[in-house]
Amino acid sequence: MSMSMSKQALPLSTPVAVIGAGAMGAGIAQVAAQAGHPVRLLDNRAGAAEQAVAGIRAQLTKLADKGKLSPEAAQAAAERLSAAASSAELADAGLVIEAIVENLEVKRALFRELEAICGADCIFATNTSSISVTAIAAGLQRPERLVGMHFFNPAPLMALVEIVSGLASERQLADTLFDTAAAWGKTPVHAKSTPGFIVNRVARPYYAEGLRLLQEGAADCATIDAVMREAGGFRMGPFELMDMIGHDVNFAVTKSVWNAFYQDPRFQPSLIQQELVDAGFIGRKSGRGFYDYRAGAERAQP
Ligand code: NAI
Repeated sequence: MSMSMSKQALPLSTPVAVIGAGAMGAGIAQVAAQAGHPVRLLDNRAGAAEQAVAGIRAQLTKLADKGKLSPEAAQAAAERLSAAASSAELADAGLVIEAIVENLEVKRALFRELEAICGADCIFATNTSSISVTAIAAGLQRPERLVGMHFFNPAPLMALVEIVSGLASERQLADTLFDTAAAWGKTPVHAKSTPGFIVNRVARPYYAEGLRLLQEGAADCATIDAVMREAGGFRMGPFELMDMIGHDVNFAVTKSVWNAFYQDPRFQPSLIQQELVDAGFIGRKSGRGFYDYRAGAERAQP
């Protein structure tokens, strides 16, 4: 029964704080607000949180216009969302979900700061794609309170959420986040903190072999993408998927998994990806990646 399935889910009255108002943070904030939680969004880039809140409200209106959400539900979710000006405003949060830059030291520093601000019962969650949850938690006075809660892009549409336990994570908190994700309409899975967790580990060769084929001149991106989509049955080919994720993020994940496995050649990052990152051609969000997304571009979007 659904009641027993979500018996450990956080009550909807629990304030949720989302830190990092980029692609993932905005999506996660939308999911939590639509589920019924009061949500505060914080970013250290001036104006970013306000901009993200406006963007989410526009998304909610669009969903209501399309009939996918009632106008009342869209309005209520919009009202539950707000931008925070500083971390001091997150003191009442029962759950903090961090979705900032993929960097261990920066994430550790943020959680250390939060430890001094949030109540003892507040659960800390990280949306990291590839950094060890064990290592992020180790920077805390109470590492047991931190669990990975790894959403996929775009968070409002993708069902899967990996609930990642570090070595010190308290199992009961992982169960609470599992049930909470389920109550939010997601499909959670438990995973241990190993490099890349489940999806990013299994997906590494998908990108790596696509990149090797491209480098060997076997076929172009559009052909490889079409083959994987049409013959392979994947929803997206490797290049269009990397463009959607963002090469900055994807390259960071690749390097992180490669280093975590002591530079095992199976996970070796590609020079093509390095070039794209160096050029700032980081995918859809920059208008250019493997494909050109700028208005009037000669090469159509995939
Ligand atoms: P993004 O670059 O779109 O957004 C990151 C946001 O965090 C930016 O707005 C930035 O200003 C803010 N930020 C950076 N440092 C901060 C700090 N110390 N305090 C407050 N805000 C800070 O990145 P994206 O794609 O949203 O990724 C965020 C996290 O989610 C990363 O850990 C990434 O690995 C993970 N992730 C990314 C996925 C993707 O497909 N892009 C999928 C799943 C997880």
